[in-house]
Amino acid sequence: MSRQPYSARDFEGVPALVTGGASGIGAATAALLAERGARVAVLDLDPAGAPPGTLALEADVTDDAAVRAAVDRAAAELGGLQVLVGNAGIGAAGTVEDHDDSEWQRVLDVNLLGIVRTDRAALPHLRRTAARHPGQVSITHTCSIAATAGLPQRALYSASKGAVLSLTLAMAADHVREGIRVNCVNPGTVDTPWVGRLLGRADDPTAERDALEARQPTGRLVGAEEVADAVAYLAGPRASAVTGTALAVDGGMQGLRLRPGPR
Ligand code: NAI
Repeated sequence: MSRQPYSARDFEGVPALVTGGASGIGAATAALLAERGARVAVLDLDPAGAPPGTLALEADVTDDAAVRAAVDRAAAELGGLQVLVGNAGIGAAGTVEDHDDSEWQRVLDVNLLGIVRTDRAALPHLRRTAARHPGQVSITHTCSIAATAGLPQRALYSASKGAVLSLTLAMAADHVREGIRVNCVNPGTVDTPWVGRLLGRADDPTAERDALEARQPTGRLVGAEEVADAVAYLAGPRASAVTGTALAVDGGMQGLRLRPGPR
């Protein structure tokens, strides 16, 4: 396969849809794809924060009809779909005993079924593009380190992200022969409005932030732009041989075991 020359505009003209693209990781991803030439639509519950120059579509990923309408509109206005980023998600703090069935269903409805609904609605559009550009069509899910490491007080959230990881692998197998690649990113703790809200609820926000930073071997939170770069790699032309992969963007949190102290 011939090597693509490096280009700052490697998504030129590529129609892309980012869910949860009006804040945090999704907004950074939508902005980066647009900067690199993509035509970008943002699907969000509250699309006011969608980056300038993107098509902002209001939809709740728990509403199948609304998702289908938004995905179809994005494809109609952008001229098809080539890149899908399934990123919308919500948090949940607690042990397995702390939430009743309705809370389990609410979080799984957004974090897991929200991705299922968007992928399902987008696949016919992606398949049409893949017939012309096999291997250049991609779905990238925002998963989490919570899928691969046991974090305290995250039973429900982790279960939702573990399901996203398994879904990613199964979908990668199902769609590889159609020329559609499916991957996910596994961020550590990322400095987004979400984490800001989490800190806002803590008894001592400064101590809580220090603890979150110390948990990552790099000693700092991950930037939303750093996750966006990883998503753009997986979604883009340079990753044409990459499918069924979970790319950790976690400051070393999953893979490293440091000793206490400076060395
Ligand atoms: P955020 O809260 O800054 O942004 C999430 C966006 O999703 C918001 O614009 C929100 O309106 C949208 N959204 C939420 N529920 C929705 C729904 N039902 N339908 C449509 N849109 C909806 O959060 P952040 O931090 O950017 O998180 C994005 C993704 O990254 C989530 O899937 C989250 O689980 C994941 N993640 C976040 C980490 C972090 O530390 N911030 C770490 C690992 C994963």
